[in-house]
Amino acid sequence: MCGIVGYIGGKQAAPLLLQGLEKLEYRGYDSAGLAVVDAGNGGIIVKKARGRLSALKKMTDCGKSIPGILGIGHTRWATHGEPNDVNSHPHLSRSGRVALVHNGIVENYAELRQYLCEQGYGFVSDTDTEVVVQLIDHYYENDPVAAVRRAADQLRGSFALGIVFADRPDLFIALRKDSPLIVGLGEGENFIASDVPALLAHTRRVIRLGEREMAVVTREGVTVYDHFGVKLEPEVLEITWDAESAEKGGYEHFMLKEIMEQPDAVRRTIAPRVRGDFTIELGLRRLTDDVLRSLDRICIVACGSSYHVGMVARYAIERMARVPVTVALASEFRYDNPMIGPETLVIIISQSGETLDTLFALREAKERGARVLSIVNVVGSSIAVESTDVLYTWAGPEIAVATTKAYSTQLALMQLFTLYLGRVRGRLTDLEAREEVRSLLATGDKLAELLKDTSHLQYLASLYFNRRDIFFMGRNIDYALALEGSLKLKEISYIHSEAYAAGELKHGTISLIEPGTLVVALCTGTKLHEKMLSNIREVKARGATVIALTTKPIPLDPNHPNANPDHIIELPACCELCAPSLSVVPLQLLAYYVALLKGCDIDKPRNLAKSVTVE
Ligand code: F6R
Repeated sequence: MCGIVGYIGGKQAAPLLLQGLEKLEYRGYDSAGLAVVDAGNGGIIVKKARGRLSALKKMTDCGKSIPGILGIGHTRWATHGEPNDVNSHPHLSRSGRVALVHNGIVENYAELRQYLCEQGYGFVSDTDTEVVVQLIDHYYENDPVAAVRRAADQLRGSFALGIVFADRPDLFIALRKDSPLIVGLGEGENFIASDVPALLAHTRRVIRLGEREMAVVTREGVTVYDHFGVKLEPEVLEITWDAESAEKGGYEHFMLKEIMEQPDAVRRTIAPRVRGDFTIELGLRRLTDDVLRSLDRICIVACGSSYHVGMVARYAIERMARVPVTVALASEFRYDNPMIGPETLVIIISQSGETLDTLFALREAKERGARVLSIVNVVGSSIAVESTDVLYTWAGPEIAVATTKAYSTQLALMQLFTLYLGRVRGRLTDLEAREEVRSLLATGDKLAELLKDTSHLQYLASLYFNRRDIFFMGRNIDYALALEGSLKLKEISYIHSEAYAAGELKHGTISLIEPGTLVVALCTGTKLHEKMLSNIREVKARGATVIALTTKPIPLDPNHPNANPDHIIELPACCELCAPSLSVVPLQLLAYYVALLKGCDIDKPRNLAKSVTVE
């Protein structure tokens, strides 16, 4: 949530900051702003505009109208105060000496505001952020580092901050707690950003600031301090993503591009972890085979689509490795007094590695003595760093707010882990495990086959894009997939949608089915075909239109054609383990084409942001 950029160097800052913000717009798009230190006049120029970045670009002639070689920028996902010009970042202190951009939530802002009011400070915005800038101003006596540290010590909550000072055209400060921030290292210029895509055009050498670390950024270099002011020697990471992977590459939307990238992303995630003889090499450092053998249970914790991956994985792990698994929403887990301990493996799934609820759940799990394995896409992210062990999904940068390729790679990696666990715990024979691995390796090719022709999904979308309600139903793994299909549809098309365990529908929700309601019935679990057919008949009898998704032909009823599904999407034949990876693709495409026909802003759906760094 919220995108932060910062620059100091020999070039004009504002155009560079705007280019960086363009790459972070997926993090928030309620408003955008810039603050540039005007060395000539000894002040800070602040420009901000409500709405998309394009408004700010227009206002500043793409940044050209703002002089200066040092500045910070922000794209906002509103938390405190409506998205208007005043609440937009950067915020300037009353005296005009300090300006800052903020990502996160300052929980004790009300009491700090009260204190500052008593000191004579006035406030113009409704934000928690304005409190921070005034507090730094309050403590500022020509020592930026001391003022920022003193103010930061008083903040509760989460924050990533970029701060400039009117009388210090030679530096800016960045610091973070529970919200991501990285420093980009250039030649005679240096940067900060919330995420890698903003930096790719300039540098691939980055430092990921750790918890409560502060960076003092100058043209010549970057100095990083810990919470106590001790100078650190931070690790410099080399980003391997190419710049094109964060571009649309000819596609109309990032989402479609990322859907199409799934075959390669899944291959990249699986293949390097499989040896020539089809045995698995996960490269876990602390979670040794002995540890995996000693586990009593597994608890998978995540949010949103990553949580849905956990639900699919539960079925696979319980079936193939015979370890009991619970799946918890991260936002609930932390406040649920979870029953976990040293014999529990907590698996954290997160694309961004920065989702705050998930990060806090991880910390809760560690405090209770559990070991934590994380499945993460962003290398060096907070969740990756704080886990006992991490397995990276190699999906590449995912820009569209609605996840697609990250979901698929998480799923594929969880399946590989399941096979490894099943083998280590003696639940799968060597032969069985190798056979499963061989089938799993074929997922990429099956996905490619599936994606060759999307015309059927486009046709279905054209028939139903104006429906008011769309239901998804399935049993077992298909239920977990139904949840993902429904989430995908509602987040980008704004159509009301619900997902139900098919057998549960008649316990209440079937009252919502009326003539014209569209029901997507997932029938990939062949053992439950007959049960699903009964459920399809139940909704058909009430006037629903049904799209069925299958891996094998459904036994239709020739005597009652009206009871059969109206449309059938048949997936390529595949092993049971691969089926969920394939089934999700038509659901993603259906959501995409429906949203396209409705004219929705697919990559930046309303009210959403890519990386959810507030609780
Ligand atoms: C839905 C979506 C979200 C994320 C969720 C968790 O399309 O993208 O539901 O899955 O916000 O995010 P991560 O995986 O980054 O922790």
